Amino acid sequence: MTVTHAPASPTRKIDDIRKAWKDANVTPLWETDAHGPGPGSPKAYLWKWQVLRPLLDGAIDVTSMENAERRVLALTNPDATGGRNTTTNLNGCLQVLMPGESARPHRHTPNALRFVLEGNGATTLVDGKHCPMAEGDLIITPAMSWHEHVHKGTAPIVWFDALDVPLHNYLGTAVFESGPMKDAPHHPDDAAFAVPNIVPEMADSPHSYSPVFRYPREASVAALRAAPAAKDGSRKIRYVNPMTGGAAIALLDCYMTELDAGAETLPYRSTSNGICVVAEGTGTSRVGGETFSWGPRDIFSMPHGNWVTHKADSKTARLFVVTDREVLRRLDLLTEEYGNERT
Ligand SMILES: [Fe+2]
Repeated sequence: MTVTHAPASPTRKIDDIRKAWKDANVTPLWETDAHGPGPGSPKAYLWKWQVLRPLLDGAIDVTSMENAERRVLALTNPDATGGRNTTTNLNGCLQVLMPGESARPHRHTPNALRFVLEGNGATTLVDGKHCPMAEGDLIITPAMSWHEHVHKGTAPIVWFDALDVPLHNYLGTAVFESGPMKDAPHHPDDAAFAVPNIVPEMADSPHSYSPVFRYPREASVAALRAAPAAKDGSRKIRYVNPMTGGAAIALLDCYMTELDAGAETLPYRSTSNGICVVAEGTGTSRVGGETFSWGPRDIFSMPHGNWVTHKADSKTARLFVVTDREVLRRLDLLTEEYGNERT
């Protein structure tokens, strides 16, 4: 049997056809970009501390302790799509706590960390474990760990927050739970992990994140001093889970790079994204087509696909970097390249 199709009605207009597709929630791909947005490299952005710090004073003026845990300024890349994201998969924020203030206990599926920029005397409790906070310290709050902040110091304390909220928003996995704390796991004191190359054998070890929640500045500086220099002379350390040797937090992978005076890194680019916080020193970084001159506490994004170099000025510089490298690696999508020559 031969089947014949009747020709389209000459009176049927393309607008009617498109409306029918739209009403039925179908999309004609031949009328859209052939391959989607492609592997383009989003533009990087620099947030200067001298601009940010007064903005925090404004946040203090218009908020109270009642909303101290929400007194956060999100670093929103003007070139990013999708709300308040700093880069694909990563949000960077600034939070300030005043003396005598506290932020109530809560937990959530997004992973988070804090890198202290200014002040000391506060404590973050992670699953009830006390983590003192001082300038240059890294405190992690892995997914679904209870956390709260108490500030008994005499001056404001400011820290950089990083979270993998954009990834959770994309996956629909963001869950938040208010305190009081309940059903918190017990974690050994950090002294249990303080002996090099030996860790306690624990049947209930949380393998997806580090049971050490505080990485003090002094330890980072000592590790950098002992680290072997790379080909370009820089030294780099990774904040790890002592039980596995992997990233300290499942989906937030953190590093610190030290550059001697005048030293410059070889170009690097990756399918992963990073946010760089200047811990110490001054210098210049190139991220794709952008050139940033930075000083202490400045923050800049390093979106995927951009060639990146860092150069220190006349003193030693230290750069703290949080990345989504583990996300890309687990998905078998991590590609990294090192240039042989400076661009
Ligand atoms: Fe939180």
